[in-house]
Amino acid sequence: MLTKEQVIEILDPIEDPYLHKTFKETGAIQEITIKEEKSHVSVKLAIGNPNSAEQMQLQQNIVNELKKAGANTVGLRFSKLSDEVLAKFEGAAKKDQEANLLGGNTNTKFISIASGKGGVGKSTVTVNLAVALARLGKKVGIIDADIYGFSVPDMMGIESRPQVKGEKIIPVERFGVKVISMGFFVEDNSPVIWRGPMLGKMLTSFFKEVEWSELDYLLLDLPPGTGDVALDVHSMLPSSKEIIVTTPHPSAAFVAARAGQMAIKTDHEILGVIENMSYFESQLTGQKEYVFGQGGGDKLADALNTEVIGRLPLQQPYDEEHEFAPGVYQEDHPTGKIFLAIANTVTKKFE
Ligand SMILES: Nc1ncnc2c1ncn2[C@@H]1O[C@H](COP(=O)(O)OP(=O)(O)OP(=O)(O)O)[C@@H](O)[C@H]1O
Ligand SMILES: [Mg+2]
Repeated sequence: MLTKEQVIEILDPIEDPYLHKTFKETGAIQEITIKEEKSHVSVKLAIGNPNSAEQMQLQQNIVNELKKAGANTVGLRFSKLSDEVLAKFEGAAKKDQEANLLGGNTNTKFISIASGKGGVGKSTVTVNLAVALARLGKKVGIIDADIYGFSVPDMMGIESRPQVKGEKIIPVERFGVKVISMGFFVEDNSPVIWRGPMLGKMLTSFFKEVEWSELDYLLLDLPPGTGDVALDVHSMLPSSKEIIVTTPHPSAAFVAARAGQMAIKTDHEILGVIENMSYFESQLTGQKEYVFGQGGGDKLADALNTEVIGRLPLQQPYDEEHEFAPGVYQEDHPTGKIFLAIANTVTKKFE
């Protein structure tokens, strides 16, 4: 008949399907009882995600293993690992998942830029925050996750295409920022007409098939709203933090709150709110006019329990003859300076 020691020996190397750590590492075994006369073994196990489909599979495996070793009947009971143990291993599991996306690079911090509706300035924020972080000396990349509505290459004035080296795509670099976008792979601005599953695959390729090298920050320009791609990004990048962009109109804040709620429900920390098109400042008098209303950013930050980390005026970048990049604010542009301040705030929040 089986002894307790033998049962432990059989169970120890089995992996917790949720945490990808062995039962020995997680301290899963809570109790073992053996009834000699009936050759009955009963075990109580604590696992990361009980009552899941994986648990059913696991149950089967354990019963098989114990029967192979001589048990006649097997009784299994499952409970959930303590929050402490879970927190310890969940963090590591999330990191593993993300490192796997980036070819083993574990030091990259992810920032997703989201909004409740279109046209509020997500791409403007993504591009200019990325450029500002690069101006601070950080190694930065952008994934243009707005696969249908890509706009990052145009905003940055990128005219070249990525090179392919061996199995990897080399992202295009501009202003010290590495960029990948669906826009690089479509001909003549033709529309992208894919369905859901293809979108997810494309997103995975943007991580796995691109040679990102070492990055400090990887920014993701999300499509507007709370659709499939936004959800995919949230589940692919459990440690990603979010910036929510809104306009100053109070009703815009209400719509933007949905994007924030999605982040909160999926356990993503919100770095802050950026209020775009906050005001128009007259160059003649310096007077501010609140063209699109006031208070939206504060209202949203309140609702999401975070703060406003920047307010951007209505103003285009300066025209430049030599360096065409219609969406990038120059370092000495008033808005360029605001983006530097936001970049500083953001880096501090990660320290
Ligand atoms: N503060 C600003 N001042 C002037 N123009 C701006 C400002 N912010 C954004 N814009 C302009 O508004 C338009 C929409 O901005 P942007 O593309 O960044 O929004 P978006 O949220 O990414 O939109 P979409 O939902 O379509 O992806 C762009 O033409 C951009 O140049
Ligand atoms: Mg956009």
